[in-house]
Amino acid sequence: MINQGPVITIDGPSGAGKGTVSQLIAEKLGWHILDSGALYRLLSLAVSHHGMSVDDTETLKVLAEHLDIQFEQSEDGKIDIVLEGEIVTQAIRTEEVGNNASKLAAIPEVREGLLLRQRAFSQLPGLVADGRDMGTVVFPAAQIKVFLTASAEERARRRSSQLEQKGESVDFDALVKTIKERDERDANRTIAPLVPAAGALVIDSTDLTIEQVVEMIFAETVKAGLA
Ligand code: C5P
Repeated sequence: MINQGPVITIDGPSGAGKGTVSQLIAEKLGWHILDSGALYRLLSLAVSHHGMSVDDTETLKVLAEHLDIQFEQSEDGKIDIVLEGEIVTQAIRTEEVGNNASKLAAIPEVREGLLLRQRAFSQLPGLVADGRDMGTVVFPAAQIKVFLTASAEERARRRSSQLEQKGESVDFDALVKTIKERDERDANRTIAPLVPAAGALVIDSTDLTIEQVVEMIFAETVKAGLA
């Protein structure tokens, strides 16, 4: 890999604030962003659209390598996520798609199929990569590695207020249970488990604001001479 520029990896469980923090850091630095969870979610949606079996792992690998995915800048400055020509920015954010994505993510062929696609996001002037294994597997040479976490209850609170804003009803206890189950699956899978990378800055955001987290990571970036 030559000349792709510096990388900041932000790994951690869902609901820790990685998405928002990654976006704010990328904007502050003028760098590219990789939402790797979106790739797993897109694959999950494609598998259900095409009625595919999750047991046919070789076909899943081919699909992961070649799936028609675009991240397009829309007029209001937001990113439209496009799967096989259809805008699915909202459709990939449901609990069902997330849960199925987490099951697909435990299949080695799926992770292998997505690996090079993820590395291709690393371009000048730099990349902020958000996910579970960005610092451990996908960008092991990243200049800055962050592991962002928060308690399961706090993550469920954040998720339920997002769902309520969208007018969806929420069973809070069921949400905590699903979040814990997904954490368990992500942390204990044999391939690319969700663990902090060696040397990662571990930030527990339970009692921190988004701005405080962004400042902590930005300070690391300045210290490393990247900003
Ligand atoms: O981050 P997000 O909730 O969108 O990710 C959906 C699922 O994709 C996660 O629960 C996780 O199982 C999987 N994932 C992963 N590795 C990544 C990003 C996401 O295994 N780098």
